[in-house]
Amino acid sequence: MNENRDRLRIAVQKSGRLSEVSLDLLRRAGLVFRASRDRLFLYGENLPVDVLLVRDDDIPGLLVEGSCELGIVGRNVLDEQRLAAPEQPAPAEVRALGFGGCRLAIAVPDGSAITAVSDLAGLRIATSYPALLADWLRQQGITAEIVVLNGSVEIAPRLGKAHAICDLVSSGATLAANQLHELVTVMRSEAVLAVSPRAQTAATTAQIERLRARIGGALSGDGVRLLMLQAPRSALPAITQLLPARDVPSVLSLDGRPEDVAMQALCTTALDWQHLEELKRLGAHGLMVLNVERMLA
Ligand code: PRP
Ligand code: ZN
Repeated sequence: MNENRDRLRIAVQKSGRLSEVSLDLLRRAGLVFRASRDRLFLYGENLPVDVLLVRDDDIPGLLVEGSCELGIVGRNVLDEQRLAAPEQPAPAEVRALGFGGCRLAIAVPDGSAITAVSDLAGLRIATSYPALLADWLRQQGITAEIVVLNGSVEIAPRLGKAHAICDLVSSGATLAANQLHELVTVMRSEAVLAVSPRAQTAATTAQIERLRARIGGALSGDGVRLLMLQAPRSALPAITQLLPARDVPSVLSLDGRPEDVAMQALCTTALDWQHLEELKRLGAHGLMVLNVERMLA
């Protein structure tokens, strides 16, 4: 932490694709927040961790200067900052978060004569990611003019400001709504947890590590189910074989019923009714499938 603060600060997108999922992840990691009146600051009530709600493009800068120790942001935003300011110490990616998947892509107006990457030579491309685009154009050996826009990039072709755009595409709805289509993917991205290059004191490192482990625990529970059942001991091999188990199932003996066992297994794949019916046919009873909220290995 910054020497004037004894609380960790984590920057999260204020409004956009990542906002809600990011806050939801922090809640699932066990943080309880109270919002400030202006709703730009969330005070951590049960841990010394506060959330700052900001424009996603500001997150790398906040990490670089040390105003926040952690941030949840698209990898594309971090990469843009690193390429744009290579002389600065860069925030490091702690881990990918498995949501906010998207791609940075070049798109052109429907009906455009641009049909191949080589057609971009000598044209104007509008983007909020000039460094990533410049890097990609260099790798492709293409010279084109980059027009930097900080919002509404998708309307640039209609305004006559550019022939093509380079922007994030998630569902593709924004492109379709603006009569644009993708020409080529420049990079794939997703939300990541990033750490400030200034977060180096032992106390900060320990706090960050604790939060990282909690976030990991919340994420590893995603899609995991706990299957519980009882069955005759003799049916165990057949049951085990049928299970899409993630780990070796735990088998427990039952008091006073030596020929029966209780079993629990973590499963990552969907356990539908058909699975349960088959298990029942093999002799299992008392079947239960529970959602796993968090795990700590
Ligand atoms: C991106 C991009 C588009 C939209 C595309 O914005 O700028 O506006 O997402 O998504 P779609 O393919 O599902 O329509 P982002 O969430 O990064 O917000 P920002 O550009 O305002 O920071
Ligand atoms: Zn943005």
